Amino acid sequence: MCIKEVMMKYIVMILAAGMGTRMKSKEPKVLLEVAGKKMISYVVNTAKSIPNKEIVLVINKGEELKNYVADMGVTIAIQEEQRGTANAVEAGLTKIEDQFNGKVLIINGDMPLVDSKTIKDFISNSKKEKISFITTHMRNPTGYGRVLRSTDGAFIKIVEDKDASDQEKRISEINTGIYLFDVKTLIQIIKQVNNNNAQKEYYITSLLNKNSYPHVVDNKGQFLGVNNRCDIAQASKIMWQQRANNLMRQGVSIIDPSNFYMDDSVVIEEGVTIYPNVHLQGETMIHKDSIIYPGNMIINSTIGIGCKVKENCSIESSYVGDYSEIGPMAHLRPGSHLEGNNKIGNFVEIKNTRMGENTKASHLSYLGDAEIGQHVNIGCGAITCNYDGFSKHKTIIEDGAFVGSDVQLVAPVNIGKNVMIGAGSTITKDIPEGALGISRSEQKIIKNWFSRWKSKKNTGKK
Ligand code: UD1
Ligand code: CA
Repeated sequence: MCIKEVMMKYIVMILAAGMGTRMKSKEPKVLLEVAGKKMISYVVNTAKSIPNKEIVLVINKGEELKNYVADMGVTIAIQEEQRGTANAVEAGLTKIEDQFNGKVLIINGDMPLVDSKTIKDFISNSKKEKISFITTHMRNPTGYGRVLRSTDGAFIKIVEDKDASDQEKRISEINTGIYLFDVKTLIQIIKQVNNNNAQKEYYITSLLNKNSYPHVVDNKGQFLGVNNRCDIAQASKIMWQQRANNLMRQGVSIIDPSNFYMDDSVVIEEGVTIYPNVHLQGETMIHKDSIIYPGNMIINSTIGIGCKVKENCSIESSYVGDYSEIGPMAHLRPGSHLEGNNKIGNFVEIKNTRMGENTKASHLSYLGDAEIGQHVNIGCGAITCNYDGFSKHKTIIEDGAFVGSDVQLVAPVNIGKNVMIGAGSTITKDIPEGALGISRSEQKIIKNWFSRWKSKKNTGKK
């Protein structure tokens, strides 16, 4: 017979209604980004990793945060006025059904770094307790609630930073902002909270007394509460470093992990090398053995196998096929699709353009709204004139064409297979397969012109 384990059900309540005054931002604090992702997403993801739970998210009245979390599968509770963390909990409790008999895990919404394993361990270690919370030791505890203990080590209470005496401020053990309450106990005691404190707020920490169980957990940076923009920078740094460490373990070379900026949605295969100061964002994929040199910004793009992206390129919503070489200082705007073995050199800008294999644009070009075949050479300074002031037009360049330097292709225009275009030409008409297209005026030679010009100038002098 199979014995089914009856799992205890949890409510995970995330407190995210604070105004974030210390951020000095128009949007709610938890909508600010840490290492490329909104703070609230990290905390909701951590909450989601807890089995058998429902998530209640306490937010303020504004629409912005409400809209952002609408599809996250959480129940929203509104805290009408920001009167403190205990008041936020009261708002959250209104969303919990009367018959619920389990435990409520409460977590501050400004803790993007907290590890889900930490929370799971905390839950399983607190099974028999009615009120538990996580504490840790911080080298710089400034700003956090301090854990007061008696001389025999028994927990007394939490003193908030703003209410702490100089002596209490020297305590390094802090309240992390993660609590587990038996729901019935919580409902009973929350009514007793008052706001007799420096901030005139209702503190969740005043619910913690000698009947509560502090669980001391190793810090390792995960309990950082993000209150201001210095904290955002610190949390982001930790996150990028963690991502770099994971990648290095998977066979990616990161020349300087302290200068590596990657969203967690980015995928990098083994054998890739990333130089310093590279920013990889959104749905970006870098396939194996590619090298990304310093200063590149790559957003929502795919870089194929064995590519070299030289210094200081901007690549957005583009596809770079295998073994291509891009940059230095190239600009691939959205819709650039390079099929492979391409060379895009310095000061080349490409937009909404498809390029077949082995095609090159090595210097100083603009290619917009173009369909370019294979083995095409785009000469230095050649450009598509795709915009007539009203609408955009297409340029088609077929396989094997050779576009000379400084050519202007006035779209719409079709350049046939194996066409050669003379340097400096302005092409306004289609050129058929195999033809030469040239539009510049013929060169004149005027012999001995310089000496005649000079003597004319000299005789003119007084
Ligand atoms: C809080 C704790 C402190 C702890 C620290 C850990 C209290 C009183 N103090 O301080 O002991 O060391 O976290 O980082 O709880 N919030 C609301 N509604 C409010 C006020 C706050 O939802 O009316 C939310 C905030 O959005 C935030 C969280 O609660 O996510 C914590 O509030 P915050 O003001 O950041 O508290 P701290 O001063 O950091
Ligand atoms: Ca905080």
